[in-house]
Amino acid sequence: MQPTQTAARLICRVREPGKEDTNMQARGPLMIEHRLIERMLSVIKDVLTEIKSKNKVDPVFVDIAVDFIRVYADRTHHGKEEDILFRELTNKSLSTKDRQAMNELIEDHVFGRQTTKALVDANSRYRNGDEAALTDIAEKLQTLVEFYPKHIEKEDKVFFPASRAYFTDEEDQAMLAEFWEFDRKVIHEKYKSVVQDLEA
Ligand SMILES: [Fe+2]
Ligand SMILES: [Fe+2]
Repeated sequence: MQPTQTAARLICRVREPGKEDTNMQARGPLMIEHRLIERMLSVIKDVLTEIKSKNKVDPVFVDIAVDFIRVYADRTHHGKEEDILFRELTNKSLSTKDRQAMNELIEDHVFGRQTTKALVDANSRYRNGDEAALTDIAEKLQTLVEFYPKHIEKEDKVFFPASRAYFTDEEDQAMLAEFWEFDRKVIHEKYKSVVQDLEA
C-alpha cells in the first residue's frame, strides 16, 4: 500500500449511510478523491500503451476520460480545493512558502484545464479523420498522467498537512460540511448543463 493511501485511511473512514464519521478531517474526502483520480490515470496509462502498439484510439474512451477529468477531477475535486479550502486559506496569514505552494497548485489546476481542452480539440480532429491528431491525443494524455501524480503528491504530503495547521478543529469541520454540500450540488449542476446544451 502506498504511504498516501495509508494516510488517507488513517484520517478518513468511509461513512456508513446515515452516520457521520466524526474522525474525518476536511482533507479526508480530497485524499479519497485523489485515489480515484490515480486509478483513472492508471487506466489512461494502459490505453497509452495500446495507442502506441495499435496506432489508434477509441475517441469514445477519450470522451469518457475528458468527462472524468472535467466533472470529477476539476469541477468536483479542484472545485472543493479552490472554492472552499483555498478561499478559507486566503483569510489566514499564510507563510510565504505556503502561499507560494497554494499559488503553484492553482497554476497546476489551470494547466490541467488547458491540457484537457487541447485533448478535446485533438480528439475532435481525430474523429473528423485527421489521423495526425493521434499524436496530439497521446501527448496530452501522457502530460496528464505525468503531471497529476506530482500535483497530488504535493497536496497529500506537503500542502494539506501544512494548511491544516491554520485551522481550528471547528473550522476544519465547517469546511468538511461545506465539502459535502458542494458535492451534493455538483450532480444537479452537471445534468442541468447537459439538458441546457441539448436544448441549445
Ligand atoms: Fe489540486
Ligand atoms: Fe487535489
